[in-house]
Amino acid sequence: MTFDTIILGAGAAGMMCAAHCGRRVLVIDHAKAPGEKIRISGGGRCNFTNMHAGPENFLSGNPHFCKSALARYTQWDFVDLVQRHDIAWHEKTLGQLFCDGSSKQIIAMLLAEMERAGGELWLQTSLRNLNKTDNEFRMEVERDGQRHSLSCRNLVLATGGKSIPKMGATGLAYDIAQQFGLEITETRAALVPFTFPDGRFRDLSGVSVPARLTNARASFDEALLFTHRGLSGPAVLQLSSYWREGEAVSVNLIPDLPLLDLLRAQRQTAGRKALKTEMARHLPARLIDYLGQQVPMAGNLADQSDTALKDLIARLSDWQLLPSGTEGYRTAEVTLGGINTDGLSSKTMEAKEVPGLYAIGEAVDVTGWLGGYNFQWAWSSGYAAGKAIAG
Ligand code: FDA
Repeated sequence: MTFDTIILGAGAAGMMCAAHCGRRVLVIDHAKAPGEKIRISGGGRCNFTNMHAGPENFLSGNPHFCKSALARYTQWDFVDLVQRHDIAWHEKTLGQLFCDGSSKQIIAMLLAEMERAGGELWLQTSLRNLNKTDNEFRMEVERDGQRHSLSCRNLVLATGGKSIPKMGATGLAYDIAQQFGLEITETRAALVPFTFPDGRFRDLSGVSVPARLTNARASFDEALLFTHRGLSGPAVLQLSSYWREGEAVSVNLIPDLPLLDLLRAQRQTAGRKALKTEMARHLPARLIDYLGQQVPMAGNLADQSDTALKDLIARLSDWQLLPSGTEGYRTAEVTLGGINTDGLSSKTMEAKEVPGLYAIGEAVDVTGWLGGYNFQWAWSSGYAAGKAIAG
């Protein structure tokens, strides 16, 4: 069977590409259903893009690579598509756009767009071997226990990264890229919780506070969540993409609180109040109990010297923590690194040295922040490749 284009992976990027790359398109996926990560994303409501998406929200060996695709298919283009399909949406926080209803609406929309463009979808289909002649790719795939020989002029790698192997994530795109001489940059679990060896936050499990997490490379002001394994929540997931083993992170538990002024004022008017009681007005009581074991917090407000208060504030605004690791690909939302962008055209996503081979989405070394940015990259890169193939 001969197709113009075969797309490996019916995820966000693959379906978007299929909707734009013209006729005689086959999308192949080994999963039972397309877009499984879309389905579970955003707590079932899919944070499908971000109003503020721009190149600065992405990590890559080449920070300029994503610019062209993001500019040619923007968050507003995707919002427009969502609106044309009558999918109601809202901004939740920090520009993050979610479906009002269900992420399944986004999958249905992409399937409808694919169908309109004449794309065919084969699920539960596995690639068995692949090679290239001068002007076409040839492969054998297995579907329903039967082998099929396929050929195509354009092959699009859209099988994503390694995160959540339980959902069928594999390194197939990396393997094929390497087969054709493309380089893979170091891959790491990203947007992932930090772990600590001693279960030290077990008693705080479930406590969430607004915090500022900082290391030498980045700083994020978002929620911090204590878990029985360690630290999670948006601030932690964001910083995890910039973290390396053995590095400490600084946690500011009072990023926007003029706590010194508040405590001084209370010391004047309510000096007999216990310091811990006053602190529990600003931070969760369980956290204060925990911190009270590490930072001196005994006595009444009137007992506290200015030096003691300043010392307390300093400890709360720069709590140094040394994660032992992360939860890894088991729970990571994305994979950092991937197919080296040096080998790809930033306009078309085509391999510079292998005409007809394209790589899009998470498989490429472009990783977004938490907040809808990774889907935006899938839409933008999928569109870029699709339009280039359609010609
Ligand atoms: P994607 O992973 O979507 O698709 C790859 C496809 O390839 C899958 O269908 C898979 O079955 C298939 N495949 C893999 N190996 C194969 C093989 N060997 N043979 C055949 N098929 C194969 N992002 C965001 O912007 N907003 C959000 O709300 C979320 N939420 C979120 C929650 C959770 C729990 C996770 C794990 C991730 C997110 N993300 C996210 C990240 C987002 O899901 C991710 O970046 C995109 O889905 C990447 O799109 P791709 O199309 O590149 O890969």
